Amino acid sequence: MTIALETLDRRYFSPQDVLDKDWIDSAIRDVLSSIDALLPRFSHTFPAANTLEGRYTEVAKVDWTEGFWTGLLWLAWEVTGEDKYRRAAEGFLDNFEERLDKQIKVDTHDLGFLYLLSCVNAWRLTGNTRARSLALRAADLLYCRFNATAGVIQAWGDLRDPARQGRMIIDCNLNVPLLFWAANETGNADYRQAATRHLEQAARYLVRNDGSTFHTFYLDIHTGKALRGDTHQGFSDSSCWARGQAWGIYGFALGYHHTGNAALPELSRKLTHYFLNRLPEDYVCYWDLIFTQEDHAYRDTSAAAISVCGIAELLKQLPLTDPLRPAYLNAISLMMRNLQANYFAHNEDGLLREGVYNFGRDMGINVPNLWGDYFWFEALVRLSRVWTPYW
Ligand code: GLY
Repeated sequence: MTIALETLDRRYFSPQDVLDKDWIDSAIRDVLSSIDALLPRFSHTFPAANTLEGRYTEVAKVDWTEGFWTGLLWLAWEVTGEDKYRRAAEGFLDNFEERLDKQIKVDTHDLGFLYLLSCVNAWRLTGNTRARSLALRAADLLYCRFNATAGVIQAWGDLRDPARQGRMIIDCNLNVPLLFWAANETGNADYRQAATRHLEQAARYLVRNDGSTFHTFYLDIHTGKALRGDTHQGFSDSSCWARGQAWGIYGFALGYHHTGNAALPELSRKLTHYFLNRLPEDYVCYWDLIFTQEDHAYRDTSAAAISVCGIAELLKQLPLTDPLRPAYLNAISLMMRNLQANYFAHNEDGLLREGVYNFGRDMGINVPNLWGDYFWFEALVRLSRVWTPYW
């Protein structure tokens, strides 16, 4: 199948808008004061997936999102060197260990989001060997979710549940780096083969030929036959969920870093054009890319932040002579400036207002969410210094 590369909107070719160091430093100061305000409440429990009436409630081991809090703490530690962030992040290792010991909500592909941002970071950044062992245990659980016939990692639920078998989702693009990490760490090539195969299948079946994406896709685990694409969090099976597209942009770009497959950044580019061409006037996406101004739909600022990180990763991989580099940099600046000016959450918990978790299930609509906060900070860190990604 040939996947189209849309011509990028002319508005990204206007004179270049560059974010300078003062702008980024000031945005990072805002982020750090918000984290500092949360820290006293969340040194032993985690902020929930999204805020409720302006506040994050406390949760522990219930969701796919807890790692984002430790990710924020590790970013804060990397940026400031202040011990309080490291101590807080390391304090959560007990929690991540108990989650594995008691098998609490680990029947999910989200093990990457959970254990890369907590345990792999603790090992990689500080040499904590206990964290390394925990991360390897999580990688084993993720590996068990790979079905070799279908070539995919089952997203959710019991591996024996026929209704869930063979279902992959685009979000998993950010979880497979846990398997690449485990392969590098142990020398066991099985992890790498599973992760590489999953990415290949994601590229083949989750991406439609117009450069948009399905949120999820089913394959038959007995024959490997492709069955159907559908959505879990998007507007419809045939629309393009904005956050899914952002996971795709970012994950396929990262896939090149992990596999060396030069087709992956080109795929990321195609998804990027589709995404950027559907942004409204303020460059912050609606929660599904099907919407236009007339629909008065909510934004999803978290998808915007993830896409910035993804395009920044893509830029690392494109040659310096790539003619579209200035346009991509422009797109990043336009999204960042609008997010900071119009969506930064002052006087309430969270960093970015107006995220959408799951519209169809009435969850976290038009409020900050923890992953949006994390990717906003990651975007600022990426744009301000040489930084080794957590993925
Ligand atoms: N990975 C779940 C979500 O993006 O909502």
